[in-house]
Amino acid sequence: MPSDVVDDVVVGAGVVGLTTALLLARGGHEVVVVTAEPVGGGSSGRSLGIVSELHGTAYRRMRGETARKNAAAYRAMNADGFALLAGVLETSGTPHERRDAYLAASRPEGAARIDDEHLAAHRAGLKLEKLQRADALPFAHHGAVRLQDQIRVDPARLLSALAIAAAEAGVRIVERERVVDVRVRPRGTSVVETGSAEYAGRHVVLATGTPILDRGLYALKTAAFRMVAVGGTTAAPDLPIVTALGPDGSTTVAADPDGHVVAVGQAHRTGTGGSELRRADLVEAVLRGVVPDLVRTDAWSGQDYRPFNPIAFVGRLPRTGGAVSFASGFDGWGLTQGAAAGIRISNDLLSRSQPRWATTISHRVTRPASQGIGLVGDVRAATERVAGFRRLAPADLPLLREGQGVVHRTDDGPVATSLTGGVLRSVSASCTRAGGVVRWNDLETSWDCPVCGSRFDVGGTVLEGGARGALPVVPTPGAPEAANLS
Ligand SMILES: Cc1cc2nc3c(=O)[nH]c(=O)nc-3n(C[C@H](O)[C@H](O)[C@H](O)COP(=O)(O)OP(=O)(O)OC[C@H]3O[C@@H](n4cnc5c(N)ncnc54)[C@H](O)[C@@H]3O)c2cc1C
Ligand code: FES
Repeated sequence: MPSDVVDDVVVGAGVVGLTTALLLARGGHEVVVVTAEPVGGGSSGRSLGIVSELHGTAYRRMRGETARKNAAAYRAMNADGFALLAGVLETSGTPHERRDAYLAASRPEGAARIDDEHLAAHRAGLKLEKLQRADALPFAHHGAVRLQDQIRVDPARLLSALAIAAAEAGVRIVERERVVDVRVRPRGTSVVETGSAEYAGRHVVLATGTPILDRGLYALKTAAFRMVAVGGTTAAPDLPIVTALGPDGSTTVAADPDGHVVAVGQAHRTGTGGSELRRADLVEAVLRGVVPDLVRTDAWSGQDYRPFNPIAFVGRLPRTGGAVSFASGFDGWGLTQGAAAGIRISNDLLSRSQPRWATTISHRVTRPASQGIGLVGDVRAATERVAGFRRLAPADLPLLREGQGVVHRTDDGPVATSLTGGVLRSVSASCTRAGGVVRWNDLETSWDCPVCGSRFDVGGTVLEGGARGALPVVPTPGAPEAANLS
């Protein structure tokens, strides 16, 4: 047992972890943040840095899946999250831009969805302006709505501002330590274990994207999905924030005054739907339709979680005796929602009264129509377990190109073999958690699990998600001994 016991150990340094830690420390708690990567290493740091209350067609989804009062609570929640982040940016002097945000249909078929979002948002109290034609949008569109005065910030700067504010409030931040387990002690001291250290606290907050403990089965109540982002430069940086609804789903674009432009789209379930490199080209094509002079400079992807209920899960993790809190399921718009989760979790742990939106959301009832994701998760798990793969013959090995990975069958089960940096590596392709068989991600050169959304590097080490252990390293069938490097 470690000697120093703090009030709260927060695991994760994304928007949820840092805002929670900041508010807890400001409320007088002693807080340690333990995070696997450097600050900014998770989805928050890989985001587009759009701090906005316009969340694609979120209100349209809520209209079909939850009561109107919950949609109104979602609006109030995001307003508070927005205000918190805007306040930190202002007081820290962090450079950021105020820009109008638009939702526009790039095809005539999308016009009805814009109308739906306009109406549903209005009913929830979010006053979007309906425009037939938006002069600020440099592409043909069929209806648009606008929300003025939103924020675009470099996400690394946003997270660094939050981390500095938290540190100034007394939070200790420990980077590059992955938590492998939590010994939960309700009404006592829980212990967070990393490979190299232990951190003890009266309460633990899992701000890890998806909770890394299985209790409550949130891996099946949310679907892990990835979005692909492309960055570049343009000579026309006066672009508003715009989400375009197109034939391949929505793509969101934002630009900075220095001509840096970013776009994100191609949302797809983790470990499914083929090449992410190809998806990056599709995002680039949409971005080029908005800024024709685009010079592409980079591409990356990141992960988020879609809840079966349209509003994120935030609160105490079931079956931990109240000792562990968590937040998950921001559906691609987690900056304002994540900051609001920080408000809610910190109020709870500081025994402060909650804003009305938090009480409404915590009492919401999940309607049967919105429970598909968990069930789909189960079905997919079963399907993945029986999927068949080809055997890898020695003659196949020279055909493996740099940056490529394949899953193949062996007598000991499926094996994942990749070639990166000139090194051939094989790891077991199936994990013991829920039977997932990993798939190759050619953009991030990682192994991604289509069942639970966990991700692993080429050597099998966990990159993100709820998988507890690494994928074991195994020999590559047919490879010469020297090539079987781990
Ligand atoms: C490409 C992309 C662009 C996006 N753009 C926007 C946008 O512009 N605006 C917006 O509102 N939303 C955006 N989103 C969504 C938003 O980024 C997420 O909803 C939000 O960042 C989630 O925050 P989080 O704190 O829950 O998770 P994260 O930011 O992922 O933080 C999780 C933290 O937990 C740590 N961690 C995980 N496991 C462990 C472990 N076992 N031990 C220790 N630490 C661990 C990670 O290192 C990380 O620090 C985007 C998402 C993607 C993928
Ligand atoms: S089921 Fe996804 S990694 Fe185990």
